[in-house]
Formats: sequence, C-alpha cells, structure tokens
Amino acid sequence: MTHCDSSGGDYPGTIVARPELGPADAALVTEAELAQERARPLFSGFAVGAAVRTESGTEPYLGWNVEDPSLVRVLHAEQAAIYAAVHRENAAARVLDIAIWGTGDVPPCGACRQTIVDSNPEARVLFPYRGGILITSAADLLPLSFRITPSSP
Ligand code: THU
Ligand code: ZN
Repeated sequence: MTHCDSSGGDYPGTIVARPELGPADAALVTEAELAQERARPLFSGFAVGAAVRTESGTEPYLGWNVEDPSLVRVLHAEQAAIYAAVHRENAAARVLDIAIWGTGDVPPCGACRQTIVDSNPEARVLFPYRGGILITSAADLLPLSFRITPSSP
C-alpha cells in the first residue's frame, strides 16, 4: 500500500493532476463528471457522479445520487453505477475501475467502499482529492472489509 505524499494526504494511493491522467482514466473521469449533472441532491445539495468500467469492456455504467422528498431513498452515485452494471450484465459483473466526481474532495463513503470491494477488491478507484485525482484501490480504501469465508467443519 502506498500513501499519497503530496499535501499530506492520508488516503492510500497516488494523487495525479487531471491533465496527467491516461486517456482511459481521463475518459472515465469525464463520464463521472457528466453523470454528476444528473444528480438530484434535493436536501444536501451535494451532487455526486460515478462511472464504472467492468471486465465486459462495454460502455461505462453511470450513476448519480438521488435524495427523495420522503428521504426514504438516498441512492449513492457509486452504488447506482454498480447496480446498473449488475442489472445490465449479471450479479458477477466485476468492476475494474470506478471514477467518482463531485465538488471538492469526494472519497466514497464506507458503504460504497464495501459495495466496490464486494465486486472486486482490486478495483481501481479514482476520486477528486486535494485539487487532483486520487488513484487507489478498493482494498486499500477498505482494509479488513467484510467478506464471507466458508466456515470450517
Ligand atoms: N453520496 C454519494 O453519492 N456517495 C458517497 O459515497 C458519499 C455520499 C451522496 C449521498 C447524499 O445524497 C450526498 O452525497 C450527501 O451525503
Ligand atoms: Zn456511498
């Protein structure tokens, strides 16, 4: 596990300036940015977009956060994007990369980290952090995550 060293960041990973991203990462981040425009954060005003690339190599799956008037449903962008992949492919849809976009630093919450780990602990996770893009992995963001292990007899 590496720790980002610029600006004293404390998340594991590397901070990259957006123009320095490779073309595939840059395209995924742009998709997340477009997804953010579709967010409906009725109460918090905090709009989040996410774009997921799976092993299948299809177009990225997009998600954005939604806060219902009733507040019964609060959908997180990352979970929406992963559910879209699962719905279009199948439950085994494996996330290779997920880009998250929002205003300021936008690390995924704990529940979203678990959702990404459940799909693939090695998934690459990109989000805005300290003026750049932090590139890290699901497992590095959520060490000691919940996993079902077969019980011993
Ligand atoms: N949000 C996300 O979409 N993903 C996260 O992991 C962090 C939080 C949304 C949920 C809510 O609509 C708003 O951001 C403020 O928490
Ligand atoms: Zn979340």
